Amino acid sequence: MSDKHIYCPNPYILAEIMPFGEVYPCSCGWIRGYSLGNIFKQSYDEIWNGERAKEFRQKLYDNDFSLCPGCQNLEILQEINDPEPKLISEPPERILLGLDEFCDVKCIFCRPENYKVNPNLIPKDKEDKLLEILSPWLSNAKYVKTNAVGEVFASKISRDLIKNIAIKFPNVKFEIITNGIQCTKENIEALNLTDKISMMTISLHAFKEETYNKIVKGGNYKKVIDNINYVSSLKKAGKIDRFELHFTVTSINYKEIPDMIKLCRAIDAKIRLLGLDCSRDLEELYNKINIQDSKHPEYNELVKITHSKEFQEGKDVVIQGHDYFSALEPVKVSFQDKLKRLFKTH
Ligand SMILES: C[S@@+](CC[C@H](N)C(=O)[O-])C[C@H]1O[C@@H](n2cnc3c(N)ncnc32)[C@H](O)[C@@H]1O
Ligand code: SF4
Ligand code: SF4
Repeated sequence: MSDKHIYCPNPYILAEIMPFGEVYPCSCGWIRGYSLGNIFKQSYDEIWNGERAKEFRQKLYDNDFSLCPGCQNLEILQEINDPEPKLISEPPERILLGLDEFCDVKCIFCRPENYKVNPNLIPKDKEDKLLEILSPWLSNAKYVKTNAVGEVFASKISRDLIKNIAIKFPNVKFEIITNGIQCTKENIEALNLTDKISMMTISLHAFKEETYNKIVKGGNYKKVIDNINYVSSLKKAGKIDRFELHFTVTSINYKEIPDMIKLCRAIDAKIRLLGLDCSRDLEELYNKINIQDSKHPEYNELVKITHSKEFQEGKDVVIQGHDYFSALEPVKVSFQDKLKRLFKTH
């Protein structure tokens, strides 16, 4: 075996703390839910430097990517030739928090009609102790991203957490992901977030209001556009480092991708096109709107759009595909093949 190893920084710098308190060393979907432990049942040391964390780091050092079958970020991998694996890590620099599912709208691909928000993601006796439980995780944190699973501005738990983290850990910068409806100047100021936002992501799944209304049930397109313009003014004034719009690609909205790209260029944002994730229980809706499936009747139209002049991947269009955004990669390449392509010596 080669004495060269591939190093991935994520299991040393990133902790995703997700519903029910499970901790992942990378994007949960990419590593197929390999949890390191649970913040409500185990201590920080038991999780972050426990057996499962060491096993994950050891496997990567051994060039064994079996725990990373859905990796979408091969660019961050580096070649190293360290004689020993580094199995113990400092506390993470970046924490992604997704502890509360509460939301003020229902997007059709996230909250189907029969979807019930689970009120028990945080044990009742732990709600008041959240900051205490999270403190060892935050001790080295530079960035906190929230809320990955619900709506940050609508969730009291998320809002209180942001306020308390900002006071106790004044050096932390926030990465906010929101549906944009309540992302107003007033609400940003009320959370003391002015000058503390490193990245703002607003999900806007349509260029046209009528399309938005088909996807975001109970939303408010005009408010989102006003708030996007406000965030754009912050970005243009250099007050936030990164600004992105998220656009989950479906058969309902894909024709608006070129207009969305133009909009993003005008507001100084990147656009991130998300492949539809079927892990939620979407039943027949999924097959109907999953245009990334080459068997979908409109699949070739989507491919044409990805070849249009507006579409320049890598510059300001980012693809986040799960396994599903196959339009740009009609020939499926395995993870190991991608690695070989990236690191020609392997
Ligand atoms: C779950 S939301 C939470 C943050 C915030 N409420 C929002 O909408 O941006 C995070 C992102 O996941 C995306 N999303 C939700 N359900 C999805 C699905 N089934 N497939 C792909 N992306 C999805 C949303 O579009 C959003 O950009
Ligand atoms: S190799 Fe990919 S999936 Fe695995 S930890 Fe690194 S970035 Fe995550
Ligand atoms: S706004 Fe975000 S959390 Fe709420 S339903 Fe839509 S995607 Fe899900």
